[in-house]
Amino acid sequence: MNMANVVQRIGHLARKTFLDISSKVALKENIADLKGVLQTLNASDLNFEERLVENRDVYRPETRGAPVTYVHIYEDRILSIGIFVIRHGASLPLHDHPDMHGLIKVIHGQGKIKSFTSVPKEDIPFPKEMELNSSVKPWHRDRIIPVKLHSDTVVDSDSVCELGPEEGNLHYIEAVNGPMAFVDILSPPYDHDTGARVCHYYKELNIEKDVTGSGIQNDICWLLEIPQPSDYWTASAKYKGPRIAIDMDSF
Ligand SMILES: [Fe+2]
Repeated sequence: MNMANVVQRIGHLARKTFLDISSKVALKENIADLKGVLQTLNASDLNFEERLVENRDVYRPETRGAPVTYVHIYEDRILSIGIFVIRHGASLPLHDHPDMHGLIKVIHGQGKIKSFTSVPKEDIPFPKEMELNSSVKPWHRDRIIPVKLHSDTVVDSDSVCELGPEEGNLHYIEAVNGPMAFVDILSPPYDHDTGARVCHYYKELNIEKDVTGSGIQNDICWLLEIPQPSDYWTASAKYKGPRIAIDMDSF
């Protein structure tokens, strides 16, 4: 497989996978195929610029330069593909992909990915411990959601991480042991223009678990929706790899 083929093939497979998601069985099979090809993708296939990960210093907010750089590769109404480059110790803050599928393939370094699955709010009573937590104000209540931990793991280029529209949808990614870069496939893409799919940011609330009660709270974490953190912003860099050209007539 030559350089252009693997990138092009991923674009084509991703579009095929997410164009029609009405059959859960077919979707699962197609995502498995896509993950198989993504697994083989490496930085050189994308002509990824080494200079973007040369600086191994731990990122400090007062440092010049952005904590995260985004390299846009492709976008249509079905999917978006890009590369996120995270400085050592910096992170993509906890956020969601509303009603979207996400696939992550690390192409440089290692990242800690922590993800959560949201739980219907009406199923879970507010814990009394929440009332005692000084960081939780009464007016926060509408913006607090219960979640369950989905995964908390360090990933590298050996694996492809899948974040579903429900399972593991809320997540945070931190570069560990140096800078990291990963390819991010989202379907459908965010839509901030019409407001159909807007990114929300959250912070984890440190609520004491109810160990003496019924136990129902024990695996529930609580997240507070917050504005985009002021120390998170992205620079952009130009994509230098093979272009993804999708023949729409082939679907
Ligand atoms: Fe994300």
